[in-house]
Amino acid sequence: MQAYRASLLHFHADPAFAEHAHTWIEDGLLVVENGHVKAAGDYALLSATLAPETPVVDYRGKIITPGFIDTHLHFPQTDMIASPAPGLLPWLETYTFPTERQFGDPLHARATADFFLDELLRNGTTTALVYCSVHKASAEALFEASSARNLRMAGGKVLMDRNCPDFLQDTADLRESEELIQRWHNKGRNLYAITPRFAPTSTEAQLAATGELAQAYPDTFIQTHVSENEDECRWVGELFPQRRSYLDVYEHYGLMRPRAMFGHCIWLDDTDFARLAETGSAIAHCPTSNLFLGSGLFDIARADNAGAMVSLGTDVGGGTSFSMLQTMNEAYKVARLKGSYLPALRMFYLATLGAARSMRLEGSIGHFEPGAEADFIVLDPRATQLLERRTSHCDTLEETLFALALLGDDRAIRATYAAGALVHERSA
Ligand code: GUN
Ligand code: ZN
Repeated sequence: MQAYRASLLHFHADPAFAEHAHTWIEDGLLVVENGHVKAAGDYALLSATLAPETPVVDYRGKIITPGFIDTHLHFPQTDMIASPAPGLLPWLETYTFPTERQFGDPLHARATADFFLDELLRNGTTTALVYCSVHKASAEALFEASSARNLRMAGGKVLMDRNCPDFLQDTADLRESEELIQRWHNKGRNLYAITPRFAPTSTEAQLAATGELAQAYPDTFIQTHVSENEDECRWVGELFPQRRSYLDVYEHYGLMRPRAMFGHCIWLDDTDFARLAETGSAIAHCPTSNLFLGSGLFDIARADNAGAMVSLGTDVGGGTSFSMLQTMNEAYKVARLKGSYLPALRMFYLATLGAARSMRLEGSIGHFEPGAEADFIVLDPRATQLLERRTSHCDTLEETLFALALLGDDRAIRATYAAGALVHERSA
C-alpha cells in the first residue's frame, strides 16, 4: 500500500450536462493498493485510517488527476511529426506512407514503440487508442512495449487494400488482425482495435470483412478516420456513390457500435451526428491536427446537441503535440472559432472520464472510485516560471486548470503512475 498527498481532482459526470460533476479536494490523499485505488479523500480523515508504516509521498502544491486518455494517434508517425504539406492527402503521400513502410522491421518498430510510449508517459497520457502500421510486426511491437510498462493500451494494425503504395497494401483476408486479437486482446492490460485506415484505402470486400470481425469480437475497439478533409470527403463520395454519407459507409459495413471511435468528424451532417449517438459510437476530436493540416473546425456544440460522445486525440503525427494539455489549448480555440465555449473543467473531463466512457473503459480507468486502476498523474501548476507567475494569483480551480491547459505541456507533468507504479518522473 502507498499513499499520495496532493490536491485531488476527478469527475463523476460531464460538467456540460451535470451540476456536481467533479470532486476537488484541496488537501487530499490518494491511497493505492496492489495497483488499484483503495480510497481518495481528505488527507486529515484518510491519513488517520492508514497503518502507521504506510508510505505517504508528499506532493503538496500539486494536483493529482487520473492519467490522460488520448483516443486517436499513430505510433509509426512519431518520427514524422511536424512534416509540412498542403493538406491531408499530399501529407499522406509525401511523408506518412514512406515513414510507415519502415515498420515491417520488428526492431525499428519496437525501438519506436518504446520511445512513443515513454513520450506519452512524459506527457501524462496513460491510455491511448493507437494506430500501428499495416505490418503485423508493428502491433506486436506496440503491445510488447506496452506490456513491459504494464499500461492500459489499445491499438491495432492498420488495414488498407487499395489506393496506397504496394509496399503498404494488405488484403481482405483479416487473418493477421484476428491472430493479433487472440494474442493480445484482454491480455494483461492490452486491448485490440480493429483499424481500417479510412474508407478510401479499403475495398468493399475489406470493409465487409472488417464488419464481420468486429461482430465476432464485440468487445474489441474499432477505429478509423471520417470526414476530416473536404477533398477526402469528395473522394469518398466518388468511391461509394450509393452511400448516403461518408459515415454511412462505415455504418453500412457494421462498423458503428459501442467501442467504435471515429477520428475528426468535421464535415458531418445532423443525421451523422445522430447516428453516432444512437449507435453508441464516439468521436475523437483532434484539434492540433485539424489546425495543422488545415482540415477544418470540429463543432462540439453539434455533437453535444446530438448527444454524441466526444473525446480528445492528439493525432500525432498529423497532430503537432503529444501533450493533452496542448490539445486542450487548441480545442478551446477551435470551440471559440465555432462560437462555443469550452471550460477547462470540461476539457479535463474529456481527457479523463469522458474518454474512458467513450471507450467503455470507465469500469477500469478515468476516475478515482475505489477499485479503479491506479493510473494517475501529478500536475505542477508552478512547473514553469510563467505558469508559477500566472497560477500564483488564480482565484478559482477553473482559472488554475485553464492556465495549465493553455500554458502547460510535458513540463507540467511532475510524475506519471501506471497501475500504481511510477513510470515517469520529471527531473528538476
Ligand atoms: N486519414 C487517413 N490516414 C490518416 C492519417 O494517418 N492521419 C490523418 N490525420 N488522417 C488520415
Ligand atoms: Zn489519425
